[in-house]
Amino acid sequence: MVELLGVVMPDIVAFFLIGELAVFAVIVAAFVLARLHRGRHHHYVMLAAFLVDMVVFKPLMTARAFSGVWGEYPWSGTSILPHMVLDSLALVAGLGAIFLGFRYRVKKDANMFMPPEGKMHRWLGRAFIVLWTITLLGGLRIFMDAYVP
Ligand code: HEM
Repeated sequence: MVELLGVVMPDIVAFFLIGELAVFAVIVAAFVLARLHRGRHHHYVMLAAFLVDMVVFKPLMTARAFSGVWGEYPWSGTSILPHMVLDSLALVAGLGAIFLGFRYRVKKDANMFMPPEGKMHRWLGRAFIVLWTITLLGGLRIFMDAYVP
């Protein structure tokens, strides 16, 4: 067990909490880079955040949910099922944004731009960020219900 800001929680939960807040900060940074038309840096930073989240945090959280610590599927009395459904939608939007990013990007003078045909990348990318953020808020609610007195 570990104590953070007066709240006692299992080590793995502290890892999820700090890790997902860090991923959120990186996603925001990647979005700002896109707004500043730094497409090349935007794509590296967004890909790093997406991969770390989908390869490290989300599989570990899913494994914890199915380990029985929250009870059996569909985890009655918790918000875990809607949390997972939202995350699956975020995953689909994120994969779509990545596909369209590579499909339509234009490389020029060591930078990367999105021509008008790539506007669906922008919309799917924004959908990913919104869905991912709502999923994070849902996760924070589950955390508060379980560990904050
Ligand atoms: C999960 C992954 C990604 C997300 C969520 C995402 C999201 C976004 C968003 C929301 C914008 C529009 C920002 C705005 O103007 O409001 C954008 C722009 C852009 N994205 Fe991505 N993106 C992702 C991955 C990629 C990848 C893999 C590439 C390239 C291979 C890429 C290349 C670009 C480029 C070139 C722009 C235009 C930047 C500019 O305005 O000059 N993105 N992205």
